[in-house]
Amino acid sequence: MTKTLHPVARPDELLLSVDGLKVEFSTSAGVVRALDGVSFDVRAGETVAILGESGSGKSVTAQAIMALLPKPAGSIVGGEIRYRGLDLAAQPTSKVRELCATEIAMIFQDPLSSLNPVFRVGWQLAEVFRRRRGVPKQQAWAKSLELLKRVGIPDAETRIRDYPHQFSGVSASAS
Ligand SMILES: Nc1ncnc2c1ncn2[C@@H]1O[C@H](COP(=O)(O)OP(=O)(O)O)[C@@H](O)[C@H]1O
Ligand SMILES: [Mg+2]
Repeated sequence: MTKTLHPVARPDELLLSVDGLKVEFSTSAGVVRALDGVSFDVRAGETVAILGESGSGKSVTAQAIMALLPKPAGSIVGGEIRYRGLDLAAQPTSKVRELCATEIAMIFQDPLSSLNPVFRVGWQLAEVFRRRRGVPKQQAWAKSLELLKRVGIPDAETRIRDYPHQFSGVSASAS
């Protein structure tokens, strides 16, 4: 059965509200204040781009929202992350993970480190549907195929059986 924690968002609904977010890392060289009061809102249907020079805190902002800050070094020391009214910063990691399985997603910067080199791409795409949404195996495979086709991968029926290294972008990402 497909898990849905929330009904579909209303147009313009305030989905994410980050308010005064502060994140610190404790390192051997002392405390790094990575975020010092980050605030922004995202409404349904809206695309928000966060720009900033390298090291300005874009990735840490995303990690904080997704409960992916490296532990125990990184922690949220102030502010709120409200997702549809729920303060994610105050929730146990398990609750945030549950939401991240169905409603919030992150595309990591380095796709090669996100894919397992020893499993076929179709299997890895299907895994998302199977494990996170409870879709049966065969249907999950069909959904993977549909996704590959939707992004314009030629000969998707064959490519779905490829391993990650057989797709392009390997040398570019490794350089
Ligand atoms: N695991 C970590 N330990 C210590 N400092 C970190 C860690 N991750 C990020 N930082 C620091 O947090 C700040 C923001 O980093 P980051 O969010 O990765 O920047 P951006 O994604 O905008 O390039 C930087 O000063 C970075 O050095
Ligand atoms: Mg980054």
